[in-house]
Amino acid sequence: MRRVRPLFLCLLLICLCGCGPDEPAVQADGEAAISAEPKYVALTFDDGPHPGTTDVLLDGLRERNAHATFFLIGKEIAGREDLVRRMQAEGHQVGNHTWSHVRLNGTQAANTEEIQKTETVLEDILGEGTYWLRPPYGLVSEDAEKTIDVPMVKWSVDPRDWESRDAGKVAQAILANVQPNSIILLHDIYQTSVDAALEVIDTLHQEGYQFVTVEELLDINGVTPELGVLYCRGTG
Ligand code: NI
Repeated sequence: MRRVRPLFLCLLLICLCGCGPDEPAVQADGEAAISAEPKYVALTFDDGPHPGTTDVLLDGLRERNAHATFFLIGKEIAGREDLVRRMQAEGHQVGNHTWSHVRLNGTQAANTEEIQKTETVLEDILGEGTYWLRPPYGLVSEDAEKTIDVPMVKWSVDPRDWESRDAGKVAQAILANVQPNSIILLHDIYQTSVDAALEVIDTLHQEGYQFVTVEELLDINGVTPELGVLYCRGTG
C-alpha cells in the first residue's frame, strides 16, 4: 500500500487548497476532549440585512457574547442603515457581498462597479474602512481576482441552509463538520438559519468554542490578511 500514499497526500493538499470542507476531528482515544484552551470559529451571514431576522440574530448574538461577520448585499441596505450601524457597534465585522449578488466573472468594469457601489454605501454609513468581500456563490474568476483590492472570504462549512430551511438539520450539519478555525456559511434572511446559529453557539460554547469575526480569527492565528486573497478558514 506504500505506493498509494503519496497520491493520497497529493489529493489531500489539492482539497485543502481548493476550500474543501473541514473534516471532523477524530479523537485518538475515542473520548471527547475537554480542553481549557479556547477554540475559535467564525459564523458568517450573507445576503442581508433583513429586518425581522437580522435583528433577532443580533439580539441572540449579544445575549451570548458572540461575534459574527455579515456580508451585505448593497441594494438591500437602503432604509436598513440602523441594522448596519448596530452590527458594527456590537462588535461584528461588516463586509461586502456585491451590489446585486452577481457572479464576479463579468467584465472588469462591471465587477468593480458591483463592489464599489456597496463599498461606498458602507463608507457612508460606517466610515472609511476595508470592507472584506464575499464573492456571491464563492465564485471569482481569475481575472476578477486580480482587480480586487480587499481580502476575500469563502468558507469551510456549508450546511446549505437555503435548501433545507430546517433549523435542526442546519444545526446538525454544522455540528457534524465544525472544527477549530472553521468559517461557517449561513444566511440571516431565514429565521431557520438564525435559530440554527443560536443553537450551535449554545452547544459549542459548552465545548469551549468562542465565536469571533473572520478578521479576528485570522489575527488569532497570526495570519496577516492580504488583498485579493480568498480565505476559507482561520488558518489561512
Ligand atoms: Ni449570497
